Amino acid sequence: MRPILLTVIVLLLVVEKGTSDRILSKKRTKRQLDNPLHVGGIRDPFGSYCERRGGCCPGRDDLCTVPYLDTICYCDLFCNRTVSDCCPDFWGQCLGVQPPYIGVCERNGNRFFAGQTYKENCNLCTCGPTGRWNCEQNACLIESDMIQGVNRGDYGWRAANYSQFYGMSLDEGLRYRLGTQRPSRTIMNMNEIQMNMDPVSDRLPLHFNSAEKWPGKIHEPLDQGNCAASWAFSTASVASDRISIQSMGHMTPQLSPQNLISCDTRNQGGCAGGRIDGAWWYLRRRGVVTEDCYPYSPPQHTPVEVGRCMMQSRSIGRGKRQATQRCPNPQNYHNDIYQSTPPYRLSTNEKEIMKEIMDNGPVQAIMEVHEDFFVYKSGIYKHTDVSFTKPTQYQKHGTHSVKITGWGEERQFDGKPRKYWIAANSWGKNWGENGYFRIARGDNECEIEAFVIGVWGRITMEDMHNHHHQHHRRHI
Ligand SMILES: *[C@@H]1O[C@H](CO)[C@@H](O)[C@H](O)[C@H]1NC(C)=O
Ligand SMILES: *[C@@H]1O[C@H](CO)[C@@H](O)[C@H](O)[C@H]1NC(C)=O
Repeated sequence: MRPILLTVIVLLLVVEKGTSDRILSKKRTKRQLDNPLHVGGIRDPFGSYCERRGGCCPGRDDLCTVPYLDTICYCDLFCNRTVSDCCPDFWGQCLGVQPPYIGVCERNGNRFFAGQTYKENCNLCTCGPTGRWNCEQNACLIESDMIQGVNRGDYGWRAANYSQFYGMSLDEGLRYRLGTQRPSRTIMNMNEIQMNMDPVSDRLPLHFNSAEKWPGKIHEPLDQGNCAASWAFSTASVASDRISIQSMGHMTPQLSPQNLISCDTRNQGGCAGGRIDGAWWYLRRRGVVTEDCYPYSPPQHTPVEVGRCMMQSRSIGRGKRQATQRCPNPQNYHNDIYQSTPPYRLSTNEKEIMKEIMDNGPVQAIMEVHEDFFVYKSGIYKHTDVSFTKPTQYQKHGTHSVKITGWGEERQFDGKPRKYWIAANSWGKNWGENGYFRIARGDNECEIEAFVIGVWGRITMEDMHNHHHQHHRRHI
């Protein structure tokens, strides 16, 4: 207390002597003060400052001050022009009005002043001038009432909160977590391959899972993070499985989505979305290396940044290509280029899609992702009506692509069987059923049966031989 009191007295004396300029410039340099006194409310409304000073000053008078706490306050009529530096009794003494009420907001028992903010899920809340919180009204990717609505209803699937989605808006989810553009009309009109199914010899089992038929050849779901490149992830994943199956396990490359994201840039948007027909063109004509050779590096800051292309290839004849650069991962020396043949479009007939998967392996499918899909945890997904009572900004969808690996049927509580597809997403293994989801089959749920793609790897006998030997050498 002593030193403060002393300062106050000294200051008073100095002010009286009229040499306040020097002192003031030490305390506060400008009237546009960086730290206004009253942003946090009038803390001492009952003190007498202007009164003690002997009155108010007209207009602007930078010397019209009184010591206040460990600084000074003003009694000139200019004091509340910009930020408020008025003495607490300024309004009563100089204007004859009540001091303005400056908002104080409460939250969890803490006081916040006007202008202060906090984030509630995906919405920023600001303490308003009247002491009320003003919050943005964005639809969030994780809405607790949506999770509850799904889990209370008989929808056949369960919802959960995902920390990696919490705090994102629905728009951000659609913008950064999907990333497949609808194929152009020409591509959509691409002829479907003809499949003549024999009703006897082509009996399809009730359950089928690629991972059981081809153990070790079906690659686990990856995590695209906040990079809208499902176009690259689904393509690389289907191609990886197909090459592994077709080479009978002589090669089991996990192909690099990053190679596609950074290098297949013609008419492609990298982490801002791309087209699967473009991805297949690249895989056929240029080829890509493995994930270990060219590892995925999700964008850290701006979600749409795309790294420079670090892998090129050149033709070595007969349509085959060879890398002209080393692996971006300096620990990996296997920069083999993997290619595919042209992809083919399957019919929208459920049975034909099933036969293709059973004979040749996983397929790629385009689907529409709706707001409730992000919180899928387990069961057989079907788009629900839990957001239908909310404003339209809560009901949105975007185009995505995934890998279908199998199918099955499950009896529901009502005894009716429900048919499903098993599909791999690219949102990491903690999402859904170990990175996979099941979705209703046979009704074109979310348009998942509307555009399905199969492909062959480009594999020669020589490849099988070489890779076989390499494989053995590595184990010596
Ligand atoms: C100063 O504050 C009073 C009381 O809140 C208000 O009526 C007046 O408009 C303010 N003057 C300026 C210049 O902001
Ligand atoms: C979801 O998880 C986050 C933390 O990851 C938590 O802060 C939030 O309260 C949870 N929301 C719901 C609806 O459970």
